Amino acid sequence: MNVILGILFFVLGSLAVYIFQKKKYSKTTEEDLVCEVIQKAFIREKHSDHNEHKLVRELLKSDAFIKELSLTAKFKGMVVGYILFTKVKVGNQTLLALAPLAVLPKFQKKGIGKSLVEKGHKIAKELGYKGVVVLGHPEYYKKFGYEPASKWEIKCPIEVPDEAFMAIELYPGALKEISGIVEYPKEFGIN
Ligand SMILES: CC(C)(COP(=O)(O)OP(=O)(O)OC[C@H]1O[C@@H](n2cnc3c(N)ncnc32)[C@H](O)[C@@H]1OP(=O)(O)O)[C@@H](O)C(=O)NCCC(=O)NCCS
Repeated sequence: MNVILGILFFVLGSLAVYIFQKKKYSKTTEEDLVCEVIQKAFIREKHSDHNEHKLVRELLKSDAFIKELSLTAKFKGMVVGYILFTKVKVGNQTLLALAPLAVLPKFQKKGIGKSLVEKGHKIAKELGYKGVVVLGHPEYYKKFGYEPASKWEIKCPIEVPDEAFMAIELYPGALKEISGIVEYPKEFGIN
């Protein structure tokens, strides 16, 4: 009798564990995986508030979201990098803001960030956007052709070092007629 009860408890226990695991893992979405990558990438960043993943969750639901410009980099099916471009206003023009860009620490310095930026620019251009602004490491973004946005008199709504607020034209002369203070989506909480 004890043996039968033991087997019964074992089978029921295993079944419970199986159902719990299945439920837990089937609930993990691509958005969760992306947020995990963002959190891990920014963990040692001194200029970070470590809330970039929360911002992304808000932006994904916002009017500023463009699904073609939310891009992941994968290695063996695993998300290892992510980039997001969202709509911003400068006067009556719509540009894009690049934020965030994140690559898992173990996968950094292998060209993943570069390929995400370049792919994003290509798609943005195909979609008809004129330019992108970014607040970030000048040394990194100038590799892609970003220059201080002050060159076009495009200004960040908060005070930041001139060289850290950058812009790029997606085709020659695209930003020529555009100037003013960038109006970020309200989710950024900076306007
Ligand atoms: C910044 C980050 C996205 C770069 O991604 P990555 O995949 O390591 O970058 P890549 O390998 O594509 O590097 C491209 C080039 O930039 C250089 N580079 C990489 N990280 C750099 C940095 N932090 N500053 C300056 N240059 C950098 C690389 O050496 C490489 O140069 P090369 O083309 O002359 O060889 C990544 O380090 C990261 O996720 N950092 C934490 C989050 C963060 O800071 N995001 C950006 C916010 S502004």
